[in-house]
Amino acid sequence: MAKRRCDVTNLNLAPDGKKKILWSDRDMPVLALIRERFDKHKPLKGVHMGCCMHVTSETANLMRTLKAGGAEVALCASNPLSTQDATAASIVKDFGVAVYARRGESVQVFYDHLHAVIDTKPQITMDDGADLVNTLQTQRQKDAKNILASMEETTTGVIRLRAMARDGILKFPVVAVNDAATKHLFDNRYGTGQSTLDGVVRATDVLLAGKHVVVAGYGWCGRGVAMRARGAGAIVTVTEVDPLKALEAVMDGFDVRPMSTAAEIGEVFITVTGDKHVLRAEHFRRMKNGAIVCNSGHFDVEIDIPALRKMSQKVIKDVRPLVTEFRISRNKSIHLLADGRLVNLSAATGHPASVMDMSFATQALAAEWIVKKGRKLSVAVHDVPKSIEDQVAKLKLQAMGVNIDRLSREQALYLESSGEGT
Ligand code: ADE
Repeated sequence: MAKRRCDVTNLNLAPDGKKKILWSDRDMPVLALIRERFDKHKPLKGVHMGCCMHVTSETANLMRTLKAGGAEVALCASNPLSTQDATAASIVKDFGVAVYARRGESVQVFYDHLHAVIDTKPQITMDDGADLVNTLQTQRQKDAKNILASMEETTTGVIRLRAMARDGILKFPVVAVNDAATKHLFDNRYGTGQSTLDGVVRATDVLLAGKHVVVAGYGWCGRGVAMRARGAGAIVTVTEVDPLKALEAVMDGFDVRPMSTAAEIGEVFITVTGDKHVLRAEHFRRMKNGAIVCNSGHFDVEIDIPALRKMSQKVIKDVRPLVTEFRISRNKSIHLLADGRLVNLSAATGHPASVMDMSFATQALAAEWIVKKGRKLSVAVHDVPKSIEDQVAKLKLQAMGVNIDRLSREQALYLESSGEGT
């Protein structure tokens, strides 16, 4: 079969997609500054980049930036349900990136698209969930030899990559962009917090005020979701397995308890743990009639959907768009949102552009850093250099019109000295 330059739902949607991309661009000033510099100096000239990301208007602006830097770019989706089809069309038509992504694509097509990106012979990859790295290392080992380094956008991906490094199977260097403060402190917390509730509300139209919301997981994403749910007037319970995180949730003023009892009181359940089967049969059995369950963790494994299906008398798809009713008995139904996939990207449009600005500025600068390093990076999981984080934070503050203090000479010397005490 001839190789296709792209595989998107409908290229004629490009004008609508372009409008959305330019709208997001208004809120991505740091990335725009980097794009301007990249356009002048072409730091990525001739580099083949393969990206597996959520295909959104924010990602489009990152792709434009990589192109402006002189890279050849191919992009596939990191989730079958998060692709914005109009955006995908515009990225191809208006910005010259090879895109392989269709909203609602089957798992088979999802993997075909990963292979299509690898067929473009990338030298640098950018992943959101480590699927490209995993495919390169397991099925495309010849192509893995071309890779200078890969960048990883999400917590789940970094966990997978660290496991590969620990097991000695990592084949090339990776940069944990997720772990940069300019990424997870803002994107995971404020981005996931706002967009997850946006997804729940768009899908269901429920009133959050007075609702009992259960948030499973109190990592950066869970903190954001719990904080925003409380802000909307919900009564929030947090479940955790990590004592430190649980303690933090308690001191942040949340009700903390095991899922076994949270299941009995919750009305909306949101999983953000990164682990599997956080909601399972024993919990579904205890839930109230009408409970809403959804996931904002990277993979669709946090809710045991096969178990939910097995215990249901009837499964009714699309009682509203993206809402499936699982009828457990005559007087009890559980509603699952977006097939248990990321609710913030499936039922809403993902994190707002302003927060993706920092994540993607960090990605773009990390790509430039990798090119500068050439083959000098060791095969390991690397942190983003502190200088990149400082630059992104500084530019974001500038763009927001926020000034901060500077250390006086006397203060700087004080911090450097060990002599001064009581
Ligand atoms: N991950 C979460 N939100 C996103 C967005 N808006 N674009 C790309 N990736 C995302």
